[in-house]
Amino acid sequence: MIKKCLFPAAGYGTRFLPATKSMPKEMLPIVNKPLIEFAVEEAQAAGISQMAIVTGRGKRALEDHFDISYELEHQIQNTEKEKYLVDIRRLIDECTFIYTRQVEMKGLGHAILTGQSMIGDEPFAVALADDLCINQGGDPVLAQMVKLYNQFRCSIVAVQEVPRDQTHKYGVIAGEELRDDLFRVSTMVEKPKPEDAPSNLAIIGRYILTPDIFDILKNTPPGKGGEIQITDALQQQAKDGCVIAYKFKGQRFDCGSAEGYVEATNYCFEHIYKAL
Ligand code: G1P
Repeated sequence: MIKKCLFPAAGYGTRFLPATKSMPKEMLPIVNKPLIEFAVEEAQAAGISQMAIVTGRGKRALEDHFDISYELEHQIQNTEKEKYLVDIRRLIDECTFIYTRQVEMKGLGHAILTGQSMIGDEPFAVALADDLCINQGGDPVLAQMVKLYNQFRCSIVAVQEVPRDQTHKYGVIAGEELRDDLFRVSTMVEKPKPEDAPSNLAIIGRYILTPDIFDILKNTPPGKGGEIQITDALQQQAKDGCVIAYKFKGQRFDCGSAEGYVEATNYCFEHIYKAL
């Protein structure tokens, strides 16, 4: 059973300055819903109810978002606008939220290690809110991955094919094809140049990790960019055949880039917001 999802959310979001100067990048809205809320909804749809958020300085708005706003809610009570709060109220009722701060920004692996005290000794999901994943009419991506975890009982990474000239933005995997959408990973490289990439299968921000990852992370030296990389830690598990890569069903928008953010906004306006 996967009961907890970790959300690394301490990063600065410099690509969206000045919007992110005093507001967490995870609070950037896709039309009217912040990115972090999409990610929490996705975790909940995978049967997860304990949300563990790794925050940092200047991220107070995240905690306030998953809380009641008495004054505002009183104001709009019994008006037509109440419908806009239905989703977030349900999340607050049905999930628990815990937070810890990452004091120094030493990479995604370090952020995940910072979350250890919230996770303990059990397998858990990880969702990067700036990768927005939508699978309309089907299981959301984390739900697809939880099903696979129950089958394989090892770490799972979500991957998608990217153009060769984009490999330097991602962790890239290679491995033995088990099914047309499943690979047993043998090699993982963080942000390789196209000529060094072992394939064009790029990791996107959804993981299921087994808890031995924490001990591995403690012994993982800084890698690409001088940061502690989750990709390097996963490579240790992959050596024992314990990492599965999954070509997920659905769409992923890179909301860490202006282009992906605009695409996601247009998509959600058409398919989700208008239906409200
Ligand atoms: C991180 C990971 C990378 C992964 C990516 C997915 O990179 O380090 O392996 O492919 O997330 O979004 P970041 O985008 O945080 O630099």
